[in-house]
Amino acid sequence: MNGQNFQPIRLIDYRPPEFLIDELLLTFRLKQRGTLVQASSMIRRNPSADRRNGPLRLCGEQLQLVELRLDDRRISLQDVCVTDWELIIENVPDVFKLQITTRVDPEDNTALSGLYRSSAIYCTQCEAEGFRRITYFLDRPDVLARYTTRIEAPQEECPVLLANGNLVAAGEMDDGFHFAEWQDPFPKPSYLFALVAGDLVKIEDEFVTASGRRVTLQIYVHERNRNKCKHAMVSLKKAMRWDEQVYGREYDLDQYMIVAVDDFNMGAMENKGLNLFNAKYVLADPRSATDQDYLAIEGVIAHEYFHNWTGNRITCRDWFQLSLKEGLTVFRDQQFSADMNSAAVQRIEDVRLLRQFQFREDAGPMAHPVRPDQYLEINNFYTVTIYNKGAEVIRMLHTLLGPETFRRGMDLYFQRHDGQAVTCDDFVAALADAADRDLTRFKHWYVQAGTPRLTVTEQWDERHCTYVVTVAQATPATPGQPDKLPLHLPLLVGLLGSDGGDLAARVSCPYERRGNDLLLELKEVQQDFVFREVPEKPVLSFLRGFSAPVIVNPFQSREEAAFVMQHDSDLFNRWDAAFSLAEAVILECLAKLVAAETMELDPVYLEAIHYLVGHPTDDRSLTALALQLPAENHLLQALKQIDPVALHEARRFVKQELAGRLADGLLNLYHDNEPSATYRLTGDQVGRRSLRAVCLDYLVLLGEEQQDLLELCAHQYRQGGTMTEKIGALSALAQVPGALRDEIFDHFENQWRSDPLVMDKWFALQAASPAADTYDRVKKLLDHPAFSLKNPNKVRSLLGVFGQNHVHFHHESGRGYRLLADRICQLDPLNPQLAARLMQPFVTWRRYTKDRRQLMEQILQEIGGQAGISRDVYEIVSKSLA
Ligand code: PHE
Ligand code: ZN
Repeated sequence: MNGQNFQPIRLIDYRPPEFLIDELLLTFRLKQRGTLVQASSMIRRNPSADRRNGPLRLCGEQLQLVELRLDDRRISLQDVCVTDWELIIENVPDVFKLQITTRVDPEDNTALSGLYRSSAIYCTQCEAEGFRRITYFLDRPDVLARYTTRIEAPQEECPVLLANGNLVAAGEMDDGFHFAEWQDPFPKPSYLFALVAGDLVKIEDEFVTASGRRVTLQIYVHERNRNKCKHAMVSLKKAMRWDEQVYGREYDLDQYMIVAVDDFNMGAMENKGLNLFNAKYVLADPRSATDQDYLAIEGVIAHEYFHNWTGNRITCRDWFQLSLKEGLTVFRDQQFSADMNSAAVQRIEDVRLLRQFQFREDAGPMAHPVRPDQYLEINNFYTVTIYNKGAEVIRMLHTLLGPETFRRGMDLYFQRHDGQAVTCDDFVAALADAADRDLTRFKHWYVQAGTPRLTVTEQWDERHCTYVVTVAQATPATPGQPDKLPLHLPLLVGLLGSDGGDLAARVSCPYERRGNDLLLELKEVQQDFVFREVPEKPVLSFLRGFSAPVIVNPFQSREEAAFVMQHDSDLFNRWDAAFSLAEAVILECLAKLVAAETMELDPVYLEAIHYLVGHPTDDRSLTALALQLPAENHLLQALKQIDPVALHEARRFVKQELAGRLADGLLNLYHDNEPSATYRLTGDQVGRRSLRAVCLDYLVLLGEEQQDLLELCAHQYRQGGTMTEKIGALSALAQVPGALRDEIFDHFENQWRSDPLVMDKWFALQAASPAADTYDRVKKLLDHPAFSLKNPNKVRSLLGVFGQNHVHFHHESGRGYRLLADRICQLDPLNPQLAARLMQPFVTWRRYTKDRRQLMEQILQEIGGQAGISRDVYEIVSKSLA
């Protein structure tokens, strides 16, 4: 394999920086090729460094060094050492000014890290290590400097010039150039630097903070998108108010800017005062964006805004601490979305994502702790573990401490560490001190990878009216961590009586009550929880609200699960009961299929779903979620050896069977829940649209015999006034190849070919389709004029989604593997970060049937053998094969 000389970075090697930079003046003279960057820094030796006489070593990549001056004297470039990743200057004084001029070519920057161009806009992306692609610098998050940024650019091409902070000067220059100077009063690490220049329009609004300061809010987009920013602006104001009310945090600059760009590797970026967004998370109108898009925009806008306190004012000491800002900020945005919308729906969506993607990561060769201790390429560690398991860890602290104590802990954290670059330990210490609690064992969550499994056993002593729940925990081995320590975790539970009511208030037990729930704290490998004066044998409602990110081994009968599904006061657990029931039923069918026995639908399950369809709750989104079967991505985790085709067939059988048996009920539900003609983003309206989409998704499976059901789909597509309804119809139809499907997909393409965000949906629906012709279509779509390997949204919609399409990606011929692998190799030299992300479906290759395993192993070796393989892809390949 190539790339063996890449060196891992280790947490134990962390040393404080030898130099500090307090002040930085940046001047950009922008050109598509040959942009000149002058960086003038005030540098001094760090009094608390281990070493006080070493050379100055600055990071730099893909730079052309033009000129160097130390205390205003020119240094010959012969007297310094320049490598592919460093500039080393020997014998520097203790305090000095350094001026560096570098040259970069934004037009040729396809990696979308550093300074690049997207749809004629100059923009930057510096997290994690992009600043070193702009100038030589101490590009590490524990070096905080005050930035002044001067941008010079052709006025015609770039009427708008933006950087972090406040505008302090602007004016015209010779040769049609103009300039703007921005000053950011808050010291910040280089990863939060940003610059934007181009022809953009701005949408403006105002926010008055709790203490009465006026903040100007601006969203910058291309002229054609001017009318698609309203929702983002409303979301921003909601987020600002919420952070004041819930965390007592106010915004701190006079201006808050958001810029939407078309080419972006991630969702968005929290640069101080100047957020950069993937256009997907800004632009929306009801005609072109779905309800899901609207909710995602609200969440991401809030996420980036919340970073201002959790990430920017208090930042990370090093990248091993990434979850310090990301886990905490995801937790905050989840809380916000739960407050703005349906809390139960939000929790279900968050848990679905965690189970499908994080549990899968945690069980494979890329498993790593929330605070990793080693990496090759930090870009590979922006993972569901850091983000979403990290958020679960914060949520557990919130549950253990209770909301008030948690808030006191947060206050203490802000008070202690404002303006600093700190660690996850510092964060937990602030909470522990505020709560006056020992969280030592809890901290194992930060250092230990793998998803714990809980085994639950119940004992009912009728004579003494005593009920004992025994819970045992075990975390499976993960790479580099063969032995696991017990964790400290909060278990919220309820006890249901035979009438379905909560018994918790009536029983005697030493456990803290949280509303309807009891809080059990598991700290040992195994513990008994005892409840006395329990009047009858209860049905246990375990792990309410998914109070810990664990897998619970099934311990209840299907009848009990159905009971929880119907009666639990915890809405999350109602859904979860439906989910685990469905999981058990599908896996049972799969076992039959593999054993060549006839598959049958469990009557208990059918009855439970039948009841659900006949008695939908007021929260229609909840009913819609309970009707959806677990994704293949989730189901496969329970299998020793994955046969993706058999799994798909078993799941499809259950779906088809439900459709057939419940057709009348589903059709009634569909007709009873027509949304209003004018678009509103209320829980009621969103619920109607999603419930109808789920109904269609089932009903369309009966289309072969009942043509009118296909017509129902077509009718919704043609008549539906919103993108949500159109996508609902399209995604149902995508399952049934035929003339009608083709006609409607073509119609959609014709209507939307010039809207890239809508075309992403069209690509994704085809790449996700179980229909037999999916491979051929995806292959053809790679040559579609709207597709481009250079645009990450396109790559994710077509190739990323195809990689998650189990039946087709894992086709026994290996053609699915080949298709993806070829594009990864093509993409790697252009955008290694994105190429590495596309590797994800190969990572768990060892779990599949033998033939597939062999094919994937070969492919991995082939990719690993590529000349010039990036560090990003190399890390994934080498860890997968290890
Ligand atoms: N920090 C960003 C966020 O989560 C994500 C991001 C990481 C964006 C790296 C770009 C590059 O909000
Ligand atoms: Zn973030």
